[in-house]
Amino acid sequence: MESVNNEGIVAFIHPEAKISKNVTVWHFTYIGRGTKIGANSMIGSLAHIDHDVVIGKNCRIQGNVYIPPGTVIGNNVFLGPACVLLNDKYPPSGGVLRAPIIEDDVTIGGNSTICPDVKIGRGAVVGAGSLVTKDVPALSVVYGSPARTVMTKKEYVLKQKTWKKKNSCRKMKENFN
Ligand SMILES: CC(C)(COP(=O)(O)OP(=O)(O)OC[C@H]1O[C@@H](n2cnc3c(N)ncnc32)[C@H](O)[C@@H]1OP(=O)(O)O)[C@@H](O)C(=O)NCCC(=O)NCCS
Repeated sequence: MESVNNEGIVAFIHPEAKISKNVTVWHFTYIGRGTKIGANSMIGSLAHIDHDVVIGKNCRIQGNVYIPPGTVIGNNVFLGPACVLLNDKYPPSGGVLRAPIIEDDVTIGGNSTICPDVKIGRGAVVGAGSLVTKDVPALSVVYGSPARTVMTKKEYVLKQKTWKKKNSCRKMKENFN
């Protein structure tokens, strides 16, 4: 089934996928059978969200993300561009699949890879380009390959506040001049 809006073809959304209110699905994205997406979430272009995935409310799934069958993602989760989640530890295992669990309020930086059977705890942050091979504790910040804890969420929030304050008067337009 093709899903179309007035800008042309938007996405392939399986007829048995459940898309809640106010969900935006951008161009050329695939959403498989039985997948559920919670209200107010956004799915970027070229994302591949396989069958039987659960995504909560208010999530931001950026372009080019891959989410395998059986993944469970909580509410208010941010997946940066080109994140890859995996579910087969010893491929091809013939269907013995253990998808990651991403708890509420998690942020995952662009181009990160989350290995099979890994849980990312509530509120944790994964830095850009990380390879996450083990569970990430709630409210911790990890990065690297393999990813290691580098700071607390509290420290991250302080850095985020400073970043916003320092850059609040800059317009995005400046980046394109
Ligand atoms: C993880 C992150 C928050 C760390 O920020 P920070 O603490 O301010 O880090 P700094 O820039 O001060 O760098 C500190 C050190 O960590 C390293 N580092 C920073 N981020 C890293 C990452 N993602 N992976 C590996 N090393 C990293 C830096 O190279 C630096 O190393 P050095 O001490 O050897 O010079 C940030 O770098 C990041 O990855 N943000 C996510 C960006 C993203 O994916 N956004 C998606 C939406 S566009």
